[in-house]
Amino acid sequence: EHPVATPITVAYGDGIGPEIMEATLRILEAGGAKIAPEVIEVGESVYLSGVTSGIPDSAWDSIARTGVLLKAPITTPQGSGYKSLNVTLRKSLGLYANVRPTRAYAPFVPTLHPQIDVIIVRENEEDLYAGIEHRQTDEVTQCLKLITRDGCERIVRYAFELARAHGRKKVTAISKDNIMKLTDGLFHKVFDEIGKEYPDLQQEHMIVDIAAARLATRPERFDVIVTLNLYGDILSDIAADVAGSVGLAGSSNIGVSGAMFEAIHGSAPDIAGQNVANPGGLLHAAILMLAHIGQGEAARQIHNAWLRTIEDGVHTKDIAGERTVREVGTNEFADAVIER
Ligand code: NAI
Ligand code: MG
Repeated sequence: EHPVATPITVAYGDGIGPEIMEATLRILEAGGAKIAPEVIEVGESVYLSGVTSGIPDSAWDSIARTGVLLKAPITTPQGSGYKSLNVTLRKSLGLYANVRPTRAYAPFVPTLHPQIDVIIVRENEEDLYAGIEHRQTDEVTQCLKLITRDGCERIVRYAFELARAHGRKKVTAISKDNIMKLTDGLFHKVFDEIGKEYPDLQQEHMIVDIAAARLATRPERFDVIVTLNLYGDILSDIAADVAGSVGLAGSSNIGVSGAMFEAIHGSAPDIAGQNVANPGGLLHAAILMLAHIGQGEAARQIHNAWLRTIEDGVHTKDIAGERTVREVGTNEFADAVIER
């Protein structure tokens, strides 16, 4: 389909990152993806070498060249002195839309909610994640919540367009505008305004507390969710675990000057280096990436092989249950996908 391999930038990350990236790249190659990975160094080792951004200049050159980054999770040192690389990447590449599709793999993966099938569209650049924090005194600190009309319009429109493109029926906006009347209020107002252009889609607004509760108890009532950065971060972890495992969920970060694809989970230091991590979240992200770079056929084949592996009961520990025939490690899971 694609005789010439598409260059992509690849970051192996920290913790379980290298294991799940290796598994993912093996599956991509076996599945006929035509990609030419350029490997960059980011994360912990870069921080520890004294580069407080966690990313060296040479890595930026690669991302600028390819416009596509497949990234394993990284460990951000907590506390002062370090910036979050994820936040920096989102800001630098203008990755305003973080799309996190989550569905159940019932009855193969245990879940109380076999009908969950929700796409969370998370605003990715503003809100409390704009990185504007400062200390007034040793005892008083501040973090600025930044919400702009442009940012709201862009993400709300993206969510409505995505809903249409995917044949979805309903878009739920989630905010806390009963308390944050100006910032979250602006988001809600923009949702109502732009919603008028999409009369074919059902629309509703929910306050984040009850939305979180309902996502845990009645997630099948949601279709597409559009929300602000912080709420989207939290709600998407809830949705993924309710559906089966955070280890199954991938995401795309779509921007004006590039796109980044990653699992929604972190570097899982508690299980790193043990060959037990589920590579599914990163694989899912890689499948979204293939579709994005025009390799839809390879994306479909690899997606089918992955689903077939889960259906055959070949499971990593995090998704093991009644339907598990064989519990396997990261590498063996990748082998099983490749076989299929
Ligand atoms: P985490 O998502 O790394 O882990 C939470 C729990 O889920 C752990 O028990 C872990 O073992 C499990 N888990 C996660 N991914 C899994 C997988 N693929 N297979 C099986 N089990 C899996 O979240 P945590 O512990 O809060 O953060 C650890 C580090 O990751 C922190 O340094 C954090 O800053 C970083 N992080 C990085 C992200 C990124 O690079 N995009 C996103 C979220 C966190
Ligand atoms: Mg998160």
